[in-house]
Amino acid sequence: MSALELSHIGLSLGGTPVLDDVSMHVASGEFVSILGPSGCGKSSLLRLLIRALQPDRGEILVGGALLEESPPAFAFMPQRDALMPWRRIIDNVILGLEVQGVRPAAARARVRPLFATFGLDGFEQHYPAQLSGGMRQRAALMRTIVQDRPVQLLDEPFGALDALTRTEMQRWLERRWQHARWTTVLVTHDVREAVALSDRIYVLSPRPARIIAEFAVPDRRPRLGRTLSPEAVRLEAALLDTLLTPTGDRS
Ligand SMILES: Nc1ncnc2c1ncn2[C@@H]1O[C@H](COP(=O)(O)OP(=O)(O)O)[C@@H](O)[C@H]1O
Ligand SMILES: [Mg+2]
Repeated sequence: MSALELSHIGLSLGGTPVLDDVSMHVASGEFVSILGPSGCGKSSLLRLLIRALQPDRGEILVGGALLEESPPAFAFMPQRDALMPWRRIIDNVILGLEVQGVRPAAARARVRPLFATFGLDGFEQHYPAQLSGGMRQRAALMRTIVQDRPVQLLDEPFGALDALTRTEMQRWLERRWQHARWTTVLVTHDVREAVALSDRIYVLSPRPARIIAEFAVPDRRPRLGRTLSPEAVRLEAALLDTLLTPTGDRS
């Protein structure tokens, strides 16, 4: 049974068709990326999973049960860091735990040791505006991951980072994922990132998004910092090709 299953999802927003007959599945402990051009409907797909949007057609199953009848299983990192500017970093990080009913003092005690891992040691009492973009994104990722939900939904978590910080955070996520094995859905438009981190990759067409390809990544982990296998290099090329070929030209 899949941890997550989307079946024939159709979605329109303000009369614009956004998702067209999208079906996908994610196994328990699997790392799946959704790759697609900007504006195709990737964030909307995640917003369906957190029930911020309702599909017009199709159904979503979580552990075999309809989404609307399942207990909340998702930790969600929205595309923009969405930190609350009036809350100190530590109080931003515990937000998800507070929502789960953990008392603030207990939640702070739980997250404090993680600040070093996230490269935010000493910034617990700072406000978001006092941090760089990369640091804010790490704080947002931390807020998502400390919730320790069985499923992590990450919407372009490294999008705003400079190349070096991005590589560093990808390595960090790879290590953490290998240890924790959360069921993970990563939305990205970065081919290299998808190949580095995923077990499988779904490729979406431009809007209205349909699934135009699905690939499994052959390489063993850890992958980051190592040379890709010839198969993975070919996969990167195939992914780029799929993304760059207008759908109408496909034979
Ligand atoms: N509330 C809304 N009303 C109308 N159109 C929307 C709304 N939200 C998003 N869209 C449109 O839906 C499309 C998909 O958006 P989104 O899921 O954010 O794409 P992506 O994350 O792939 O860049 C975009 O063209 C966007 O303009
Ligand atoms: Mg998006």
